[in-house]
Amino acid sequence: MNPLHAETAGVRLYPLIRPLAFALDAETAHRATVAALRLMPVRRPPDFPANLKTRVAGIDFDTPVGLAAGFDKNAEVPAQMLSLGFGFVEVGTLTPQPQSGNPRPRLFRLKEDRAVINRLGFNNAGQLVAFERLTECSRVHRVIGVNVGANKDSRDWVGDYVRGVQAMAPVARYLTINISSPNTPGLRGLQDAGALEELLAAVQQAGVGKPIFLKVAPDLAEHDPERIVRAAIDHGVDAIIVSNTTVSRPPLKSRFASETGGLSGAPLKPLALDALRRFRRASGGEIPLIGVGGIASADDAWERIRAGASLVQLYSAMVYEGSGIARRIALGLADRLKRDGFANIADAVGSE
Ligand code: FNR
Repeated sequence: MNPLHAETAGVRLYPLIRPLAFALDAETAHRATVAALRLMPVRRPPDFPANLKTRVAGIDFDTPVGLAAGFDKNAEVPAQMLSLGFGFVEVGTLTPQPQSGNPRPRLFRLKEDRAVINRLGFNNAGQLVAFERLTECSRVHRVIGVNVGANKDSRDWVGDYVRGVQAMAPVARYLTINISSPNTPGLRGLQDAGALEELLAAVQQAGVGKPIFLKVAPDLAEHDPERIVRAAIDHGVDAIIVSNTTVSRPPLKSRFASETGGLSGAPLKPLALDALRRFRRASGGEIPLIGVGGIASADDAWERIRAGASLVQLYSAMVYEGSGIARRIALGLADRLKRDGFANIADAVGSE
């Protein structure tokens, strides 16, 4: 049996593989993982309990547990990640032109903190390459979203987002506008009032006919959630993803703590949960929210759903726990729904 499928069958192989992966530097380990996944035959995704089925932005999800952007930047293994038990996969961030990103080292495992710092800087093969790969996966009926960004040296960032959603719409079930990466200097400025209005108006004007999600940072000023929610609703955005990595540094133990970049994993959890609660208060449920940041267990995912998330995503916990984590969390959510008397995920959203 393929080791990765044994994992989905409930055998925990990752504890055995992890020391090998951790012997490599983080970026080499990531590349080796994606290369191994590419060799894996694509199988039908596992069946999940019916109470996990949920509909968000007009899209049907088998489970609310997705793979966050950044793991499969170039759309090399979305079908494999679905067959490992993710309810949906977000590929990218993809920019119109290929770009190499920042110099290495630029990815750090903070083992003692169960965290990651990255300053990759949108290294990716460009939208065309991903488009071709995603065309091949079009027979996969599960949900693959495409996250788009701007090229660092582009003189027209708004134009890059418009080109991105137009180019990738035919192969995406949804598109994410990522304006919250800390690793392209100035990019987060697109979250500011005037810039955000201009960007969202331009994307709306493009009228690509697929749901548009907006991904925001957890590092927010006092009135940011109200302002961003209002702009998103006014411009027909279908969901807000809360959140990307943080540039803040909660207390950390690892020697990599002061590396520049975005922090994700366990130390992000309280910040991302707080940001989600603020977006929920600001929106009162008027726009769906997707909770991401430090989710590593069914209890974490359940807390996020009860705080207002219609879906959740994760990345860093997979580095420490392996890809079987998606299926374990989904099954744990099905149990919690039953335990607490909810018929389905939608009924539990915002119930805290
Ligand atoms: C990311 N993340 C990310 N997000 C995004 O929108 N586009 C991207 O290209 C990337 N790239 C990326 C690379 C690496 C190495 C990491 C760890 C993360 C952010 C990611 O999608 C997610 O929002 C955060 O990592 C928080 O979730 P976790 O990792 O704490 O579950």
